Amino acid sequence: MELSFIMIKPDGVQRGLVGEIISRFERKGFILKALKFLQIEKSFAEKHYEDLAGKPFFDGLVEYVTSGPVVAMVWCGNGVVLTGRKMLGATKPADSAPGTIRGDFAVDVGRNVIHGSDSVESAQKEIALWFPDGITEWRSSLHSWIYE
Ligand code: PPS
Repeated sequence: MELSFIMIKPDGVQRGLVGEIISRFERKGFILKALKFLQIEKSFAEKHYEDLAGKPFFDGLVEYVTSGPVVAMVWCGNGVVLTGRKMLGATKPADSAPGTIRGDFAVDVGRNVIHGSDSVESAQKEIALWFPDGITEWRSSLHSWIYE
């Protein structure tokens, strides 16, 4: 089943939004497959965001995401990449619909609370980067209550 990499950024952690965000994914019916709480180094952030190197906001983004601990997670479910992105809301909080995480909790694109993989390929790459030892295999007993 599909996997997505979701990261609660330092502002989301500092603002006490971890429980709220995890709860939204759980209530939707997605299954948590991996989670860790850590502060990343500059070189790791540059690797995670390597496709954005050269963008005018790149240095600021790296500084922001290394400024405090983050919560790195892998979530599982049918369509979790696309649906997860919808749950996050548009990158720019001003464009994020109310009811989305950024629409409800963010104002500034440079403090937009959360990251989510933008494709299945990106998810695979990001999960390999953040969880190099792999993730625990398990099957939720809720499966038949979530899927027909
Ligand atoms: S772009 O320019 O279209 O490639 O960027 P986009 O796909 O919209 O966003 C990619 C990530 O860059 C972050 N971003 C910013 N951070 C700080 N300041 C500004 N101005 C800015 N613009 C975009 C954006 O939040 C995305 O980060 P993640 O962590 O992937 O959500």
